Amino acid sequence: MKITYYGHSCFLIETSTARLLIDPFLTGNPLAALKASEVRCDYILITHGHEDHTGDALAVAKANNAAIIANYEIAEYFGAQGAKSHGMNPGGAFRFPFGRVKLTYAQHSSSINAGLNPLYMGTACGIIIEADNRRIYHAGDTALFLDMQLIARGGLDLAIIPIGDNFTMGPEDALDALDFLKPRLAVPVHYNTWEPIAQDAAAFARDAAMRGHKVNPLPPGGSLEL
Ligand code: NI
Ligand code: MN
Repeated sequence: MKITYYGHSCFLIETSTARLLIDPFLTGNPLAALKASEVRCDYILITHGHEDHTGDALAVAKANNAAIIANYEIAEYFGAQGAKSHGMNPGGAFRFPFGRVKLTYAQHSSSINAGLNPLYMGTACGIIIEADNRRIYHAGDTALFLDMQLIARGGLDLAIIPIGDNFTMGPEDALDALDFLKPRLAVPVHYNTWEPIAQDAAAFARDAAMRGHKVNPLPPGGSLEL
């Protein structure tokens, strides 16, 4: 399958049967690799409510007639605005036509700014996708947490993990996350979009290699075959 990074935490995963967009944030993202209007996808998977993960979800969902897969609150929120949606919650898995999706725990908050008051948007999640005999973990925004050891069960072909610090794990904790997750390959995300989360991804990859982990930083627009 082909995995393309669109910047921040946004990916397109092209399986043999479907195109899965994760955490669409292109409009307003200074490093975005393409415009929201250019995205073609069949499903949109969302880790949590924050605008840097949901910003383009509704428009892209409607333009592509794509179903939004997310926690129950986010699914209901976008469903009420006319998107197709499928609500889940951490620990739960569901077999979609393209493969199996399981939501995991993430140590983070989840809200959408609606006027003055942030709207509560359920539990922040990570996402495990099993398709085409591959197992992929998108950690979403998260702190380091010990239960990552549970996510490693069954093996991971790819782990997508934040390294930006300030809002999520920084590089130090992300190295420990790799020790827990033991993925065959990891791609760092959620860094360099803005100054407060500036990080040296090449240095992170070198430090990870010293601990036996393969990390492949992708530039926005970059892709890999899994
Ligand atoms: Ni967030
Ligand atoms: Mn974020």
